[in-house]
Amino acid sequence: MIRQTANPIREYEDELIEGPIIDIGCGQSSYLLEFLNTDREIYAIDNEQVQLDYLKKRVSQEKNAKLDKWHFKNINFPEDLLPDRTYSLIILANILHFFSIEQCLKIGKKIVELTEKGSMIYIVVHSKKYYLNDPRNPNNNEYFKHYFTTKDLEKIFPKGLFERVYSAEIEKMDTQRDKEITSRWLDKSLKADGITDPRHKASIKKKYLKNRGQADIQMIFRRK
Ligand SMILES: C[S@@+](CC[C@H](N)C(=O)[O-])C[C@H]1O[C@@H](n2cnc3c(N)ncnc32)[C@H](O)[C@@H]1O
Repeated sequence: MIRQTANPIREYEDELIEGPIIDIGCGQSSYLLEFLNTDREIYAIDNEQVQLDYLKKRVSQEKNAKLDKWHFKNINFPEDLLPDRTYSLIILANILHFFSIEQCLKIGKKIVELTEKGSMIYIVVHSKKYYLNDPRNPNNNEYFKHYFTTKDLEKIFPKGLFERVYSAEIEKMDTQRDKEITSRWLDKSLKADGITDPRHKASIKKKYLKNRGQADIQMIFRRK
């Protein structure tokens, strides 16, 4: 699954400056798992303890992992302070769309304080073309607070301070495998919610799995 993930950081790994790596809103980060062999310090940040516990368990299973270099921190970003370090790489994958554009502009300023010349910032966000984006719906920004354009990201990481080294807009329908995984996740999730009636379950699953056109923007910025 990790190998199948489009991950442009791989191409720039040799260009990373000295310093720790931080993944903010890491979940069970496939990005960090690619750094299992590194001697760098790794900061995995999430505000859900269960995510950190699963990630820690996964890292512990790897015989090459240097667990003493890993820090799993339950932090509510950006209200709580992040560990005060200067990072070589900051990963913000699938997290910024939980914030409004105004909040993202403030986050951009915080990122400046945590980086120095050469630091890289990797971002993945849902774009305006994301299948759930419907500006006519008054509740459009209830769950995802903002759907992005490349221009939005350039405002958050302005030219004077950041060089854009990578940019990609990806539109993709779910693969058969994505659908199978989502279907298995739905089974567990519906069971946890106490929904057991087979017809009710089937109708929710049908709706959820229909026409899920993913549309993301991925960017890497380098601090000037
Ligand atoms: C959609 S998942 C993305 C996980 C991972 N970055 C990825 O791309 O696969 C978002 C993650 O961010 C975490 N999260 C959401 N809001 C957060 C916040 N304010 N501070 C820290 N973590 C947060 C969630 O718990 C979840 O694990």
